[in-house]
Amino acid sequence: MPKAADGYENAMTKPKILLTRPWPEAAETWISERYDVTVNRTGQPLSRDELKAAMLAYDGLCPTVTDKLDAEILGQPGARVKVIANFGVGFEHIDLQAATSAGIVVANTPDVLTDATADIALLLMLMTSRRGAEGERQVRAHGWKGWGTTHMLGQSLQGKTLGLFGFGRIAQAVARRASLALSMKIAYASRSRVAPDIEAELGATYVESLDELAAMSDVLSMHCPGGAATRHLVNARLLGLMKPTAILINTARGSVVHEAELAQALRDNVIWAAGLDVYEKEPVVHPDLLGLDNAVLLPHLGSATIETRNEMGMRAATNIDAFFRGEAPRDRIA
Ligand code: 8YV
Repeated sequence: MPKAADGYENAMTKPKILLTRPWPEAAETWISERYDVTVNRTGQPLSRDELKAAMLAYDGLCPTVTDKLDAEILGQPGARVKVIANFGVGFEHIDLQAATSAGIVVANTPDVLTDATADIALLLMLMTSRRGAEGERQVRAHGWKGWGTTHMLGQSLQGKTLGLFGFGRIAQAVARRASLALSMKIAYASRSRVAPDIEAELGATYVESLDELAAMSDVLSMHCPGGAATRHLVNARLLGLMKPTAILINTARGSVVHEAELAQALRDNVIWAAGLDVYEKEPVVHPDLLGLDNAVLLPHLGSATIETRNEMGMRAATNIDAFFRGEAPRDRIA
């Protein structure tokens, strides 16, 4: 029985926690041993009505990216939830202002998915530049006629320029991989410039705007948060500024890219290829992208390693635990 926080001092029962999706076993066991835990095992995300009801029935909520917690849900009269420990680092699906107004503490899971997500960005860079998915499809479809001097030629990334939009933990991890493994030159644009020692370590050049970055990059990789401020930053206009040989990578949030305009640009060879891990309306992928060989499409695998998902679960669990012990959760964001 954890030492209680406000409202639980004399409680005889453990705080009630809802996991909106099953977690990796170790983290689920850890939190279940300490709290009265309910897990949604339907295989489906909770509906809006179910989320609303959960706010009234539980003391703590552990949502994921698929649970939209807006002001109406968070601000319901009689809501019982006092802490939200998100299983994931991105939090634009949670209205933080509404949570704060409702007196709800919110935490996320930074750091533990940095490397896994950076790996996926690198995977997409290599798959797009070397036509990995297209080649694999050809083999499986018995379409490969044998080795040829001009068969399915890709592009080398060696010495090319990687432009990173947003330069937080994940973007920096991508920069490190690209410069060490592929000798790429690194440029970035972001809300704020990083410290000179970080720029020096990564050999990163700061540029003033996304437009400038798009125009100079051989690979443009998006690493900004989702939400209204970054919605459709990658659209026909921006794609038109890019080199015809350039590659777009998105492992951030689907809302950052206008999918229909990207599909048109890929079809018209305005840019060379795109590698996407996230989509505007997951799990729906814009139908125009599905038929394009120069689009590499992954199903939101950024953090999908056994190791990372375990760590994400433990991080969310310990954030819950800290709250109910009356401490500040380590990863508090609101
Ligand atoms: C997670 C992610 O798997 O953490 C994030 O923000 O995008 C993913 O890699 C997902 O958010 C889980 O909630």
